[in-house]
Amino acid sequence: MHAVLGDTPDPESKKHTAQKMWIENSSNILSELISKPTKRALIIERLAEALLPKTLLRIMLHLPEERLKRLHRFSKLNADFVNEILANHESNQLGCSGSGADDDSDTTTGQRSNDSSTSIFSAMVRINEGLSKSQNKLTLRQIASQIPSMLIAGQDTVGNSLSWALYELASHPDWQERVREEIISHARVSRDSECPEAFFRNEGLDGLPCLNAHIKETLRFYPGVPMVNRITLEDVVFPLAEPISSADGKSKVTQILVQKGTRVHFNLAAYNKTRSIWGEDAGSFNPWRWLPTQGLSESEQGSVRVSTGLGPYANLSTFIGGARVCVGWRLSILLMQTFLTRCLAKFRFTLVDNVGIRPIVTFTIFPALDNDKDSLSPSLPLGIEML
Ligand code: HEM
Repeated sequence: MHAVLGDTPDPESKKHTAQKMWIENSSNILSELISKPTKRALIIERLAEALLPKTLLRIMLHLPEERLKRLHRFSKLNADFVNEILANHESNQLGCSGSGADDDSDTTTGQRSNDSSTSIFSAMVRINEGLSKSQNKLTLRQIASQIPSMLIAGQDTVGNSLSWALYELASHPDWQERVREEIISHARVSRDSECPEAFFRNEGLDGLPCLNAHIKETLRFYPGVPMVNRITLEDVVFPLAEPISSADGKSKVTQILVQKGTRVHFNLAAYNKTRSIWGEDAGSFNPWRWLPTQGLSESEQGSVRVSTGLGPYANLSTFIGGARVCVGWRLSILLMQTFLTRCLAKFRFTLVDNVGIRPIVTFTIFPALDNDKDSLSPSLPLGIEML
């Protein structure tokens, strides 16, 4: 079996010790480090940021504050993980892989003893080898250092998006049946075809309208990264899509001047629920909006969508866009399609009686128990019935 992003490696394998430690300590790390700092933490961090020159900011990791201690511990785990990737790569290159052809290993990091050619790390190394120095060729260490970043960027975002996808399926049982029927009937047709494995490739998974409508609506309603920010490198004028009134109400403002060096926050979640783009029901979860309206009752139909051409996927701001677009957007869709296809074919998901769920917005949006207002712990109890 090949592992995917975030999978737990074989605990017996000594080759994966640092990776295993990293995975055990990385769940929801960004939310924990970024969300709800105590006042004391904020004061210490802001003072250190203001007083210390940038080159000495690493000293902050040694300050007596719980969040910073966690960050310090995690950056050490990161370094160990990167060293392990490099050591395994070197031993694979030398052909002394150790644990034999049955080693069950990881396609993310290249820690496969018998065939490292399919891992993300190996793919990056191969592409890098073909570059010239002037094309920003990276060192092996620089490439290995991207792996923890990709795992961090990908695991809680995809994980929480999948949690919400399951929650909404459980909340809408009729819709869940419809998505399941679509998957099962496509799988049946595919099984009888000349190329059954094509079903689990992009072209097969993209050909499931209800499943993809559910994924799009989940990513619209619960964007994995609800806010991002940027600092302007020069003075810029932002044109406004809709004019707003000036403070004295005397004039309409159609653009805003933002001075160089200003931190600008973008509320991706708000864009995804803008009525002028998504229609009057923008605030409701309605996967029907992604399907052709023909044959649907009025209550099933979503509002008309206005295309703004934003982002790489479905007019959503979820993966942002432009030069710093999420590099994992296509992988995210594939992971969600694969996971949901496999799960829905085998299991039925139901809500648990008297358990309310609420979204908590931090670095990401995760589900938590409604009756536990003080907790920032992710939690989503669901009933699971085997089919
Ligand atoms: C549903 C899942 C995901 C969502 C909603 C999401 C969203 C985003 C957003 C909004 C950004 C821009 C952040 C910023 O600039 O401040 C971003 C950047 C990034 N994402 Fe994702 N992401 C997802 C999954 C993934 C996956 C699976 C990977 C791993 C391959 C990944 C890797 C990255 C990386 C490396 C960046 C930084 C890109 C750069 O700054 O040039 N993401 N993502």
